[in-house]
Amino acid sequence: MGAFFDAEDFISEALDSIKSQVDPQGKAIIACSGGVDSMVTAALAARAIGDRLLAVYVDSGLMRKGETEEVEAMMKHMGINYRIADSADEYFSALKGVTDPEQKRKIIGERFIRIFERYARESGATYLFQGTIAPDWIESGDGVRDTIKSHHNVGGLPADMNMKLVEPLRDLYKDEVREVARILGLEASERQPFPGPALAIRCLGEVTPEKIAIVREACFIVEDEIKKASKEGKCELPWQYFAVLLPQRSVGVQGDKRAYGYTVAVRAVTSIDGMTSNFSPLPMDVLGKISVRITSSMKESVNRVVYDITSKPPSTIEWE
Ligand code: XMP
Repeated sequence: MGAFFDAEDFISEALDSIKSQVDPQGKAIIACSGGVDSMVTAALAARAIGDRLLAVYVDSGLMRKGETEEVEAMMKHMGINYRIADSADEYFSALKGVTDPEQKRKIIGERFIRIFERYARESGATYLFQGTIAPDWIESGDGVRDTIKSHHNVGGLPADMNMKLVEPLRDLYKDEVREVARILGLEASERQPFPGPALAIRCLGEVTPEKIAIVREACFIVEDEIKKASKEGKCELPWQYFAVLLPQRSVGVQGDKRAYGYTVAVRAVTSIDGMTSNFSPLPMDVLGKISVRITSSMKESVNRVVYDITSKPPSTIEWE
């Protein structure tokens, strides 16, 4: 990867490969999450097969602040066929009472496939494009390593699914996908990675609309403060930066009263491809601002903020 990768060559080979995999009249569907992987895949697919591609954005209710609007704007700008699947209720009821991380991932993966099947049936698509990249399948234990996490892009494809899978980015690493995105002129090229299971795996334990609202706001604050600090030259923009809501409550003080609230962990890492990472050495004043902003904007629910100072390995980037 990296030095020997030629993005222009990759694009022309990928277009030929897609054309050879999809029948001349064949219709296809893709889930666009707004992340660089799915947007590059959609752009390549649309270039190769045009209007025969339908892009579906699943609004799971687990996405970041303003994300649905942003992704819709990107799809419009790309000029592709798209639909928005409003599915928050479906996800929250499927996740009710579930606390095990792997089970959460499996449920989310399955929901996603079921919703897709509905759209695929309606559209007559017989091909499913996915933005799977190399670390996704390596880490999902495709015979290479033990299963660390069931990645959303890989797990849960039911045996009876009547669509052929097309994965043009399967051999690429993240930095290579970004290079391709830049050449294709996609706004998604500089977006930080965001996992398929979305905020559900940043909300440890049971996922509820209330907890998702907390972690969504905390993620927004972390992103906003770190972007600001990087623009002011206080730090490099980390590879990935977000908040995690812990299920354990702890004692604090609010005014002169005892508080018993949740803890938010801030995670910011440097990495090349997500396979390994180090925690970012963020300046203390940036961390301090994040802490004050989170605890003051969510007084009722959060009274403690901590910074995750582990590298991968031994931890992983996401907490679930
Ligand atoms: P971990 O937590 O495994 O994450 O160190 C490595 C990178 O992968 C992202 N990630 C995912 N991406 N589907 C995805 O598309 C997933 O299920 C998933 N889980 C983790 C994570 O955000 C990090 O960038």
